[in-house]
Amino acid sequence: MAERVSSVSATTTVPRSLFIEENYTIVKKLGKGQFGEVKEVLKTGTQQRFAWKQVTSEQDPYYEVEAQILRDLHHDGIVSIVEAYSQDGVVDMVLELCQKSLQFDMDSRLEPAPMTGKKQYMRPRSCDIASTMEQLLAAVYFLHENGVSHRDIKPDNVLMSVGGTWKLADFGLATRFNRGSYMTGEVGTQPFMAPEVEQRHYTEKCDIYSMGVLFIALTIGKQWWRPESLEDDEAKEQAKQILTLKTWKEQELSAGALEFAKRMVSSESERGSAEDALKNPWLQKLSSQADGVVDMVLELCQKSLQFDMDSRLEPAPMTGKKQYMRPRSCDIASTMEQLLAAVYFLHENGVSHRDIKPDNVLMSASGTWKLADFGLATRFNRGSYMTGEVGTQPFMAPEVEQRHYTEKCDIYSMGVLFIALATGKQWWRPESLEDKEAQEKARQLLTLRTWKDLELGHGALEFAKRMVSLESERGSAEDALKNPWLVQKVSSQAGCCAIS
Ligand SMILES: Nc1ncnc2c1ncn2[C@@H]1O[C@H](COP(=O)(O)OP(=O)(O)O)[C@@H](O)[C@H]1O
Ligand SMILES: [Mg+2]
Repeated sequence: MAERVSSVSATTTVPRSLFIEENYTIVKKLGKGQFGEVKEVLKTGTQQRFAWKQVTSEQDPYYEVEAQILRDLHHDGIVSIVEAYSQDGVVDMVLELCQKSLQFDMDSRLEPAPMTGKKQYMRPRSCDIASTMEQLLAAVYFLHENGVSHRDIKPDNVLMSVGGTWKLADFGLATRFNRGSYMTGEVGTQPFMAPEVEQRHYTEKCDIYSMGVLFIALTIGKQWWRPESLEDDEAKEQAKQILTLKTWKEQELSAGALEFAKRMVSSESERGSAEDALKNPWLQKLSSQADGVVDMVLELCQKSLQFDMDSRLEPAPMTGKKQYMRPRSCDIASTMEQLLAAVYFLHENGVSHRDIKPDNVLMSASGTWKLADFGLATRFNRGSYMTGEVGTQPFMAPEVEQRHYTEKCDIYSMGVLFIALATGKQWWRPESLEDKEAQEKARQLLTLRTWKDLELGHGALEFAKRMVSLESERGSAEDALKNPWLVQKVSSQAGCCAIS
């Protein structure tokens, strides 16, 4: 990744608008905030992707501060800046590309309960919450040590890096402070804003308050408001109830976690610093449990195939209904070829992955797809069977459920992955479904009619069907690699890309 961070105030005469145009290609929009837009961009002549944030200064005299602070502060828990350029009241920042926001992650944890259908918050494991908090508090500690207060910490402004760690982002309201004096700007986002910020007389501890509200949201799955800030008596009472031991016990949370939360959202004098929060006994105990895994330093990848597929769901122009923007056939074929080659190699070396799915396929820094997450992989002996019922539905081959299977289970997973990639729909084996209607839909998905409707060919359907067929008919990775549709599409890829 490029390291150059150009001076924020530009001295060159290149018109600002050309700075991005000459060096980057816009891939898609990532988000829109208060002060501008954020887009995913591709650095010209490379496969490196970045986020481009543009901020306009219209009302804000401090519009360059974000770029300056990011330029000066480098920390694992802070989104890094690659270059920045400022001219005529517009700042362009090229940032490390991140995956998803903590808000997005929390939203996707709201799932309908099995019986009632009521939305329920699927809390992360306590050790994962603790490790998220530790990562972010370490970043806050670093900021404060360097005389910077973020002032807008909230789940929207916490992003997951390609490496899967959480980072503080959006320094649009950040400022430098002097120890011993007070900040006075009433900035931030309710309900993450500390009470003393409203009084316009506060220190960097306002960030700890925000971390407290964030922690409560992450743990309980509910937005918490300071009772005193609420008008309505019932709402006040509910807010009080959220921070009681009774509620936390009901949710199978410990008194230690509640104490941790309460200290961060207490009045400024009792709140403690980032360092104090980091030393909290509950946090230390739980986050060390999360460390109980093998630490591996892995090649840093860009994004998962799942993430790529999710971002291909776009509202249709007229209806607004979400539509899947399928990659070009030649690209799908080339993705499949890359992955099947990896599977072939694994199998040749006596290893079965056993958990192939779009979440476990990552794009390398150079833009190729790689198999990742070997957490369920195992060595096998040719001629004998594996018996562990492991994997992820619906990518798990039927014979795995029978606890008697070979490495061909990986080909089944590749088949389900291919169907998802080609049709944009999750396919379940009809026999695995209870509901008659769902069964019928699953059958329909693998018919020529559907594939024609989706402008997919007969050859692609045959390729899919073979991989998800019964083990005896499925073929090996080598067979799949020799599939005529795949071979033809891959060989057409060179020409296909030259046009784009
Ligand atoms: N580096 C990044 N990588 C990926 N997405 C980003 C990045 N920076 C911002 N975004 C997306 O854009 C949104 C708005 O960006 P943010 O920096 O928070 O700007 P604002 O000040 O407008 O809120 C974020 O919530 C996130 O979804
Ligand atoms: Mg933001």
